[in-house]
Amino acid sequence: MSTPRKIILDTDPGVGIRGTDADDPIALMLALADPRLELLGVTTVFGNCPPALGARGAAAVLAAAGRSDVPVAVGMRTRLDGTLPGVLAEAYQGARGEPGTIELPDLATAAVREHAVDFLVDTVLTHPGEVTVVAIGPQTNLAMAMLKEPEVAAKLRSVVFMGGALGLESRYGRGNVTSVAECNIWYDPRAADIVFRSGVDLTMISLDVTNPATGLVLSEETIRGIDRGASRIAPMLADVCATYLDAPMFEWADGCVLYDPLAVAVAADPDVASFADMAVGVETAGELTAGQTVPLRGQDPNVHVCVGVDGPQVVDDILRTILTI
Ligand code: RIB
Ligand code: CA
Repeated sequence: MSTPRKIILDTDPGVGIRGTDADDPIALMLALADPRLELLGVTTVFGNCPPALGARGAAAVLAAAGRSDVPVAVGMRTRLDGTLPGVLAEAYQGARGEPGTIELPDLATAAVREHAVDFLVDTVLTHPGEVTVVAIGPQTNLAMAMLKEPEVAAKLRSVVFMGGALGLESRYGRGNVTSVAECNIWYDPRAADIVFRSGVDLTMISLDVTNPATGLVLSEETIRGIDRGASRIAPMLADVCATYLDAPMFEWADGCVLYDPLAVAVAADPDVASFADMAVGVETAGELTAGQTVPLRGQDPNVHVCVGVDGPQVVDDILRTILTI
């Protein structure tokens, strides 16, 4: 087998936190389980929950997998401009700001002292041309790393991210937080704009493919049928998925859309999907359209956009791979 691809998972993992999407911890489990990936570290960012809480969740997943050797670094608590979207500031005052149904370690044991932005910079510069960042939350850590150390963009191998919506799929390929914007981009459009313009090899996993139309859905029946005795990680997978049943976007489908795990699956093997090279920009100023990802005319492509996937097959493969832990 060829050398595993070195990745950092940049994530906003709500682990057992009611009202959050639980696809980030599922993505983390997949990153640990797939032998074609070498997980160098986990960096957390605001999004589903505050990043310190996310780090505690990531550490709980790592412990359940017997992989507490993987470093976790806490990252940006706000957008680049120092503010939080009002909807998150409010949510963090409630259930999304504290541990929920799964016991989490203390922050002191969960995370390294280094800030996620510094961890990204140091790790990319230590392995020039080798590191892929799989970004499955707002892109603030990544943008901040690029601003702090301009060499980062040149030294990254690639970025695979979950974010955006291009309208390629008529029903779901629109927005999920506004009518035109997907939340990972909308939470910090300026950060995403920096990443999209960075010149780094970018692969975009958007709402155009992460939706019920492609069948990229973990069904409620499958979730309820997870055998807790199937493997070491199975109880954590079952617990994480149980909170997913309460997630705000659950009404989208008869189950849970595996947005972020598809980004990890593509990092492990791009052949699981099909792609089209496109020029895409991010709307940073529009009052009605902030955070929209916009196909651009007459410009060179900057993104490999995922345009097709056999959802049910990928969902099966993801589950089977995770349960090897
Ligand atoms: O729009 C889907 C994204 O936001 C995913 O990263 C998921 O974790 C959700 O919070
Ligand atoms: Ca996420």
